[in-house]
This record gives sequence, structure tokens and C-alpha cells, in this order.
Amino acid sequence: MKLVNGLKMAKTTKIFLIDLKREYNFLKKEINQQINDCLCSQQWILGDKVEELEEAISKYLNLKYTVGVASGTDALTISLQALALKLKGKEFFDEADQIITTPFTFIATAEAILRAGAKIVFVDIEPDTFNIDPKKIKNAITKNTIGILPVHIFGLPSAMDEIKKIAKENGLFVVEDVAQAFGAKFKKRPVGSFGDVAAFSFFPTKNLGCYGDGGLVATDDFKVVESAKILRNHGQAKQYIADYIGYNSRLDSIQAAILLAKLKFVEKFNSLRKNVANKYNQALGAIKGITIPKQPKDCEHVYHLYTIKINKNLRDKLLNFLNRKGIQARVYYPVGLHKMKAFKCAKLTDELKITDEVTLSVISLPTHPFLEAEEIDYIIKTIESFFAKSR
Ligand SMILES: Cc1ncc(COP(=O)(O)O)c(C=O)c1O
Repeated sequence: MKLVNGLKMAKTTKIFLIDLKREYNFLKKEINQQINDCLCSQQWILGDKVEELEEAISKYLNLKYTVGVASGTDALTISLQALALKLKGKEFFDEADQIITTPFTFIATAEAILRAGAKIVFVDIEPDTFNIDPKKIKNAITKNTIGILPVHIFGLPSAMDEIKKIAKENGLFVVEDVAQAFGAKFKKRPVGSFGDVAAFSFFPTKNLGCYGDGGLVATDDFKVVESAKILRNHGQAKQYIADYIGYNSRLDSIQAAILLAKLKFVEKFNSLRKNVANKYNQALGAIKGITIPKQPKDCEHVYHLYTIKINKNLRDKLLNFLNRKGIQARVYYPVGLHKMKAFKCAKLTDELKITDEVTLSVISLPTHPFLEAEEIDYIIKTIESFFAKSR
């Protein structure tokens, strides 16, 4: 046994960012039953389970339609291309068409804009929410702007009132990237129900995740949902007749079945994440040198990741220290998308200084629903001991 500031932890301590084994042990009965249903029905692609899931999530979001697809990346791409079909009558935007998004996100957000044929316009983020800065969106609008793609990063809703107002004033569409924020609420309404279309990811580590890849498009727009269904299935308007260049992007029945089991627990799991975050907020908020995550008015954070900011000269030291102590902490994201070769073609409206600073100073801590109180204390004490030493 090792002693960290009076706390006993085994030498082999490993606290993961997300512990899917613990989650499975908790949900074993429901998940095994759902998988068994699939084995008995031998339905593997789309089918009853996918329809049941689509209905359940439409109800949860209070939206008319949802379309299960093969990943969050596909959900974004298909959302945009379905909008292209509606607005342009073809499945790709024109090269000059500009879509505004954040550079502080996972690659897929920007990738989808390029796949849909449009130009990426990166706008800087707010330093305390890490979400796109609505004030800077205004300055980035040109005659070629067609839409805005906000990301609810780490599970915190973007400023949807301001974003929607800007979109309305300028005749732009809004596609929400909800990959990290299933169940997060803005003014008590779940995110994903604000934009013209929303894209969800069910990657296993997400707040609602399956056992492989999966995603979902959500909308109230009948034209968009019709096009999304065609695009997810090889562009076939009728069987064996392709009208558009589509995808093989159908959600598997077994993934939908697993998601149906987990959906019932997503609110509970999100509230357990919030309890972990509250404990961190109290303890880490008292340490000079740590900026805890902001919880803006009207926003309900679901802490997909609990991300703190510290002095950039200490960041990698703390990261290594935590990892050595058996705590899996990580940097999301170490590089802004605007600095990546793949996105050199993007337009930058300014220097994106905040994103550059944030990429050097953030660390995400474990915040999953199955963390034990003793583990949370251990993480807190370990961080306290790091700052006590570095003073
Ligand atoms: C913000 C964001 N957008 C999009 C995606 C893409 O989702 P997927 O991995 O399911 O394709 C992810 C997931 O990693 C994400 O975090």
C-alpha cells in the first residue's frame, strides 16, 4: 500500500477517465437481455431496435424525427449534406459556401464540413467555457456564410440563444454537434433541440455510448430527415436506384439495443457525473492556480469531461504526475484544428489566440459515474499535493 497525503491506495491503482467495465457490471442484466433479443431476432442492420431507439430519442429531445447512422462523424456529414439537398438541390454545398465552427473540437466536426463540400471558417472560443464565442461569430459572417456549427464541448451547452439570434438575423442554418453532450440542457431544454439539425455520437466513451460506432441525426424538418434516410443508405430513393452519392451508414440493431438499455440510465449517470464535478469544484476551486470549469447561467453541464485550466508551464508536469500516481488524466485537445495540415484550407477570422492558449493549459480529469468517493478524494489529494510542492 502507498500513502498519498494520508490516503491509502494500492500500488496498482488505476483510475480511468471512463470505466466501461464498471458500467457493464451495473447494466449487465439489461444489456445481455437486449443483445439476446438481437440474437433471437437475427436482425442486425436498422430494423425494430433502431426504430425503437429513434422514437425514444425523438421523445427525449421533443423533436419529430431522428435517424440512426453509423457514427457521430456520419451524423454530422449527413446532417450537412441533407441540408445541402434542401437548400441547393444537390448533396454537396458549393466551394464558396462557408460554415462557421470552432477550432477547439474533435477532428470530425471540421472534417464533415469539407466532406459536405463547404469551406470551414474557424472562429475563436471563449476562454472560460471553451465553446465558440458568439461575439466573434458576428464578425466572421460574409455574403458566402450559409451556416453555423457549434459544438457543446465537454458536455457544456454553447450560447444557443445568441447563436440562434445571429443565425436568424443572417438567414443561416445551425447544426449542433452534440457528440459530447447527450442530456445537457440549455434553459432546461436538451441540447440537440435548438438547431435546424443536430448530430449525436454514440462512441463507447460518450455519455450515451454503444459497443462500437454509432450516431444519430435529429431534426424537426421533414425534408432533412427524408434526405438523411436516403443518404445513410447509399443515396437510394428507391431500392437499387441511387439518386445521390450516399453512404453505407446504417445503425446496427445490436448497437441500438445496447443504447436502449443505457438510455434509461442516462439522466442518472449524468447526475452522478455532476456530483463528481461538484466535489472537484469545491476542492479544486480553492487551489490557487486552478481554473475550474464554468457553469454559465441557463446551462446544465453533463461533464463528459471535467476540464481544468492551469499555468501552461505546469500542465505537462501535472499530467505526468497524475499518470504516475495511477490517475488517467488527458489533454483534450492538444492542438487546435486550425493548426492541422488537413484543415490548412480553412479560413481564419483572427489569430485564434484563446484556442492556442487553452490547448496549452487544459487537463481533463476522470468524471465518470462509477467513480468511488475514495477515488475522487485520492484524485483531489494528489492534485493538492502537486500544487503544495510546486509552490
Ligand atoms: C465533438 C465531436 N464531434 C464529433 C465526433 C465524432 O463522433 P464519432 O467518433 O462517433 O464519429 C466526436 C467523437 O469523438 C466528438 O467528440
